[in-house]
Amino acid sequence: MMRASILAATLLASIVLGTGTVRADADNFVEVERGRALSNAGDCMGCHIGPDGKSMAGGHMLETPFGKISVPNITPDNETGIGRWTRDEFDDAMRRGIGPGGTHLYPAFPYTAFTKMPRKDIDAIYDYLRTLPAVHNDVDRDTLPFPFNIRTAMIGWNWLNFTPGEFRPDPSKSDEFNRGAYLVEGPGHCGMCHTPRNIMGGDKSAEHLQGGDLQGWFAPNITADRRLGIGAWSVEEIVTYLKTGHTERSAASGPMAEVVQYSTSLMPETELKAIAVYLKERGAAGPGTPQPVAASDARMQRGAAIYDDGCAACHVGNGSGVAGMFPRLADNQNIQQNDPSGILRVVLQGAQSVATRHAVTGPSMPAFGFRLSDQQVADVATFIRNSWGNAAAPVTADQARQMRERSAGVAMPAAGH
Ligand code: HEC
Ligand code: HEC
Ligand code: HEC
Repeated sequence: MMRASILAATLLASIVLGTGTVRADADNFVEVERGRALSNAGDCMGCHIGPDGKSMAGGHMLETPFGKISVPNITPDNETGIGRWTRDEFDDAMRRGIGPGGTHLYPAFPYTAFTKMPRKDIDAIYDYLRTLPAVHNDVDRDTLPFPFNIRTAMIGWNWLNFTPGEFRPDPSKSDEFNRGAYLVEGPGHCGMCHTPRNIMGGDKSAEHLQGGDLQGWFAPNITADRRLGIGAWSVEEIVTYLKTGHTERSAASGPMAEVVQYSTSLMPETELKAIAVYLKERGAAGPGTPQPVAASDARMQRGAAIYDDGCAACHVGNGSGVAGMFPRLADNQNIQQNDPSGILRVVLQGAQSVATRHAVTGPSMPAFGFRLSDQQVADVATFIRNSWGNAAAPVTADQARQMRERSAGVAMPAAGH
């Protein structure tokens, strides 16, 4: 803040003085600030965060279906960062997935979405990154196992899965819709998690934003579908969720908690509103509503007893939750997704909602993994997925067991704490 106001004062002074360098300074100040905003929208910090917890010096490992991949240092350090990169080299990486010397980058880096940004936005990010302190941090870049460590394989992958090209606004839609579309499909790369993947890890584009599985988390449908997506959410609710990480309906945990922390909570409300308008107006898509499991079913009856005993104290007997404290389970999109990974993880491991500068402490959900058997976890999950108007496929003990194994020893990310 301090630095911003000093810069603003310098800017003002140079405009008043009308010196020859005025335009360059003013332009550069505006561009750097635009670059900072775009870098927030692109969640660069969420992945490139350094060991010091404040720079973009990288080093963090990302889990992908093909193995662990390291995130590089993008501070302006000459030896270990991108200090020597030219604007064109930066642009090639960001929009084509090609590093200096023609090395192919892996799509765990969202260049498949960043390709939608115009060159001037890429340049603004470049200008902003160059104002950050250079941090020396040498990251080992070759971490994937054979055969995925062969970078030239990405040529074929790109050919099959990557459509380069800038975002084109739809002239029949409002400016706000088009801004939202740009943010979601471009810098925000929301589809990287919310669109299901094909076997090669590319987008299943026919199911755009209809929900994707990521290493034990499930990023739900965010189309305007009423049962599974955000169709029943108001624009204000979507804005509040992106800004603070929770609403009465839902709380962001895991990977989405990180997106909120490093990206959306830092974005201006006008931008979040544009995202919400786009998500609501682009239409509903998803599988039709299944027949709910009958209340008389034995699994539902066992589930109801567990719910009354262990859950109703917070989520309330009718699933309404408590505004601002405990999420509503009735009419909740998250818990009706076809893939129950999200709720299984929450019930087994508990969850801590994200704390942002807008909502400092988050209430938490206790872990039930050590109190309930696989069958009991499955039954209570089946119950909440098929009560109070909800409808979704029943959950089996086997699915609960798989999630228990998958998440054994994995600590909950302490986002915001
Ligand atoms: C989802 C995680 C993720 C996000 C978000 C992300 N990156 Fe990256 N980025 C990566 C990974 C992983 C690589 C390395 C890919 C590889 O090794 O092939 C990478 C590589 C890069 C590179 C190439 C660096 C080099 O030395 O090869 C640049 C430049 C870069 N990212 C800039 C950015 C910027 C700017 C943003 C924000 C607008 C951003 N990244 C957001 C994960 C991410
Ligand atoms: C790194 C992966 C990732 C990215 C990128 C991501 N999300 Fe999410 N998102 C998730 C996960 C996982 C959840 C489920 C969180 C939970 O249940 O606690 C989620 C939940 C949501 C929800 C709540 C849905 C519901 O029914 O409760 C909304 C809305 C949302 N994301 C919007 C977005 C938008 C908009 C973007 C892009 C700006 C985005 N997400 C980018 C992973 C991601
Ligand atoms: C002590 C209060 C408390 C109890 C008891 C409790 N929960 Fe929760 N639950 C929470 C809180 C708080 C959250 C939000 C956590 C977060 O930030 O993700 C939550 C989140 C959830 C979610 C995720 C909702 C969403 O939209 O992402 C599900 C599903 C859930 N609880 C189910 C249950 C079930 C099933 C039980 C009983 C076995 C239970 N809870 C018991 C407090 C509680």
